Amino acid sequence: MLQLQVELGTRAYPIRIAPGLLERREAFAGLHFPQHVLLVTDTHVGKLYGDRVRRILPGNHEAALIALPPGEQHKTLVSAMRIFNALAEMQASRDALVVALGGGVIGDMAGFAAACWMRGVRCLQIPTTLLAMVDSSVGGKTAVDLPQGKNLVGAFHQPCAVVIDTDLLATLPPRELAAGLAEVVKYGALGDESFFAWVEQHADALIAGDTARLAQAVHRSCAHKARVVVADETEQGERALLNFGHTFGHAIEAEAGYGNLLHGEAVAIGMMLAARLSSELGIAPLLDVARLAAVLERLRLPVAVPAKIAARLDPSALLARMRLDKKNVSGRLRLILWRGIGHAFVAENVDSHHVLDLLTDAVAGDGG
Ligand code: NAD
Ligand code: GLY
Repeated sequence: MLQLQVELGTRAYPIRIAPGLLERREAFAGLHFPQHVLLVTDTHVGKLYGDRVRRILPGNHEAALIALPPGEQHKTLVSAMRIFNALAEMQASRDALVVALGGGVIGDMAGFAAACWMRGVRCLQIPTTLLAMVDSSVGGKTAVDLPQGKNLVGAFHQPCAVVIDTDLLATLPPRELAAGLAEVVKYGALGDESFFAWVEQHADALIAGDTARLAQAVHRSCAHKARVVVADETEQGERALLNFGHTFGHAIEAEAGYGNLLHGEAVAIGMMLAARLSSELGIAPLLDVARLAAVLERLRLPVAVPAKIAARLDPSALLARMRLDKKNVSGRLRLILWRGIGHAFVAENVDSHHVLDLLTDAVAGDGG
């Protein structure tokens, strides 16, 4: 088993990674399982793993289980309310434990519910998608979406542990695997050129589902994220870089209609737009933009807005969405731009005319 520690003082927590980990006792070592444990999942994951995980969880009381409808379109206050109702029904007290078993949608919502229930109870993350294993289960960002934008209502609430059993990836649909790989590419692209080169070297194995390579990718991604979260838990500085591609991506994902593009696909397109903008501003070498596109394509990710979606996107509406991004300060557009592979930075007060031109071009219909 590989173990990392997110060193946040009294709120420090382990990230444990291994194939078959859920069957091993050390998965939950040191964690207290109280009377009230609520296992939150979605109906897909619940069917595959719900009963098994419920049986495996230690403690004297069987966990209650709630299975929410799957997909980004259900990452809502309505779903969060269902979690609150389940907690109320079981009369969960302040020592309750919420267990998130699922992808980033479930992880973000269960984490949000845990942050709010009685002003905060513990949350254990058991991610089941690659995206959740490499990104969303670590770092304590929790949220639900509003029609106006993604993740607009949420809280920082660190988990008490992250238990990653990479064997669960065996049932993940290929498109979801690729979406997770977009976040893996992100770490290399934003700040780790040697990891980017490693992904290039192993792209074929990763997309083919090679378990050893995927486990390595999970470990390196979690190590990167844990280091950044320890340095800047509430995103006052460096953590913003983890949003490389996300301001464009979130706007496109929301404007396309939640569920039409996967989050990781929107991030891939968003990284390409941020890279292109950087190159047009004379900051990033074209060669690096091409290298980013090449690796994303090998991982079967979109590098432009697909034509069917582009046809119904309005560039001004996309820009309006970007203005509601959480990184902006006092109405000024803050974006993560790029000096090339491994070198993202926060750009203050980006000229919205440049961004609008780029968005106009991006939805002009040659996205394939
Ligand atoms: P998801 O949670 O919607 O899961 C994708 C699909 O895969 C779902 O249909 C799910 O039922 C299914 N699934 C999950 N695990 C499976 C398995 N092992 N086998 C078969 N099917 C499985 O999507 P996601 O890509 O995991 O997460 C995206 C969300 O994560 C977005 O809402 C995004 O905003 C959020 N996110 C949050 C953070 C953060 O730091 N909190 C970071 C990145 C992304
Ligand atoms: N996914 C970006 C972050 O956690 O900060």
